[in-house]
Amino acid sequence: MAKRIDVSGLTAYYGSHKAIEDISMTVEPRSVTAFIGPSGCGKSTFLRTLNRMHEVTPGGRVEGKVLLDDEDLYGTGIDPVSVRREVGMVFQRPNPFPTMSIFDNVAAGLRLNGNYKKSELGDVVEKSLKGANLWNEVKDRLNKPGSGLSGGQQQRLCIARAIAVEPKVLLMDEPCSALDPISTLAIEDLIGELKERFTIVIVTHNMQQAARVSDRTAFFNLAAVGRPGRLIEIDDTERIFSNPSVQATEDYISGRFG
Ligand SMILES: Nc1ncnc2c1ncn2[C@@H]1O[C@H](COP(=O)(O)OP(=O)(O)O)[C@@H](O)[C@H]1O
Ligand SMILES: [Mg+2]
Repeated sequence: MAKRIDVSGLTAYYGSHKAIEDISMTVEPRSVTAFIGPSGCGKSTFLRTLNRMHEVTPGGRVEGKVLLDDEDLYGTGIDPVSVRREVGMVFQRPNPFPTMSIFDNVAAGLRLNGNYKKSELGDVVEKSLKGANLWNEVKDRLNKPGSGLSGGQQQRLCIARAIAVEPKVLLMDEPCSALDPISTLAIEDLIGELKERFTIVIVTHNMQQAARVSDRTAFFNLAAVGRPGRLIEIDDTERIFSNPSVQATEDYISGRFG
């Protein structure tokens, strides 16, 4: 069976600085994969190579392959904008468009993508807000600015915006690190629901979170300061947290790192 994501020999640079080296992994459809590892080992960089956001940074370039359902995202003639529609992203800090209403925030991507009738747009916005477990909290104030919501609500609004265009994959870079514990649990529950429809890859510095939400966990590490980050191992989450194959993983998850 085709993998949803199939990465081989992926190396990424910022100018002459090699940030990550020779990463290969696969991701199954409708699963949650967590990326863990110390700060600076390239988790965010790698995540951004999966929807061609890395190259938006000046000097950002990659070598290697990323296949999405067997299609090479870096192949000739592939439009990075369409890649980012298929592989959506949610960031560390909730970033709703500040001057836009809640409705327009969710509708923004759809409006870019084509001709929706107003009623259709309303249906998709409602479905997306329901999908992000936010509908009941905002249905009476859809025309109010998104920036008026709490941090946790804003993050769910960003998730609604991301899922509105029906991506295949949702990338999340430490989506809870700016949130309180209750909002964090709400996002974790949501991830459990979203994986029925989407393939999710999440970076987290919180190992309990990785253990709670993910099916597979990938551990990244640096051989030494200044060296590029590498994928050390990827396995079933249960296995990574009980009986990893590599000593460095064991050291990291048991807090003996460094
Ligand atoms: N915009 C950038 N320009 C130059 N170097 C960067 C940039 N972003 C990250 N890096 C470098 O890439 C490496 C990996 O960083 P990053 O992907 O942010 O790691 P992590 O998310 O695991 O903390 C680090 O050496 C970092 O300094
Ligand atoms: Mg990061």
